[in-house]
Amino acid sequence: MRRAILAGKRSSIRVGLVLLLLMLAGLFQISRTEVSRADDDDGGPAGTKFSPEAAATFNKRCTACHTYGKGIKVGPDLKGVTERRKRDWLLKFIHASSNVIKSGDPIATALFSEYKKQRMPDWADLSDKQVHDILDYIAIGGPDIKPADERNAAVATAAETEMGRKLFYGHLSFRYGAQACVACHGVQGAGLRGGSLGPDLSNVYFRYQDIALTAFIRHPCFAWEQKISDGHYLTPKEGFALKAFLRMAALHQTADKHGDGNTLASGKYGAVGSRPKAGGTR
Ligand code: HEC
Ligand code: HEC
Repeated sequence: MRRAILAGKRSSIRVGLVLLLLMLAGLFQISRTEVSRADDDDGGPAGTKFSPEAAATFNKRCTACHTYGKGIKVGPDLKGVTERRKRDWLLKFIHASSNVIKSGDPIATALFSEYKKQRMPDWADLSDKQVHDILDYIAIGGPDIKPADERNAAVATAAETEMGRKLFYGHLSFRYGAQACVACHGVQGAGLRGGSLGPDLSNVYFRYQDIALTAFIRHPCFAWEQKISDGHYLTPKEGFALKAFLRMAALHQTADKHGDGNTLASGKYGAVGSRPKAGGTR
């Protein structure tokens, strides 16, 4: 009898343990899904997307003979080439210009004689997709595209500022695994208290101004973090979002001097200065 009771107790303890484990696993699952990742693809200035690989290939294989908007080099200036030629033609020409010239294609023949019978190498090892990516990159501005983090934070959308807040507080993880800023930094009025290893960042946007802050947050505050992340720290998009958040925090500091200073906590900051003022006193 006692045994049976004991066994019963044991098995209910075991069931309890299993349930507890399941619950913990569930919680873990939730917290893992809540911390999602920032968007992988980094956009150009107006949110335009291009493949970083295409930009690298362009620099490595094309710029020896072509400029983008700086005139003729060995071959023609490639700025605007996606407008002056058809896609199919470009694809064929880049893969095997020798064949296109041999086939008697009038454009190719004219180019060939104009460029003093210099011939462009055939890029047969590039896939169709790689060539399309290079052409897309050329079409949206090529080397003229500024990294996303160089835009002034004043043009950030509410969504970008919100992304910055989430990154700052670790609700969104950094692509290259950088530590959340809140581990060492606080921002007044943002509710959550940050770590105190690093200085308070409430006003840092105004103290540094846009360009200097961009340069500062391109590198980890501590050298060792660089090693962990294999040379990568933040993506330009992440840097821009953080800058936008810090700008918003600084604006709120000034605007909220006499309020409870807690408006940043919920991300309800869209209205204050989220856009640059249109031309001053008009
Ligand atoms: C060694 C020099 C050289 C390199 C490297 C080179 N090109 Fe060219 N490219 C030329 C020359 C020369 C022409 C003019 C046509 C000809 O004579 O073959 C040309 C023409 C072109 C044209 C046609 C331009 C027009 O106005 O219609 C495109 C497009 C082009 N190249 C793309 C590329 C791309 C993309 C790369 C890199 C993957 C590249 N080229 C690398 C020399 C080069
Ligand atoms: C491991 C702790 C740590 C983390 C994580 C960290 N920082 Fe820092 N940060 C510091 C320290 C310490 C300093 C002061 C360094 C100094 O003065 O040389 C600092 C300085 C700064 C400054 C300059 C502040 C000033 O007043 O001059 C900025 C801006 C900054 N950090 C932004 C960030 C951002 C944005 C993040 C998140 C991407 C971040 N930090 C993550 C520790 C950290």
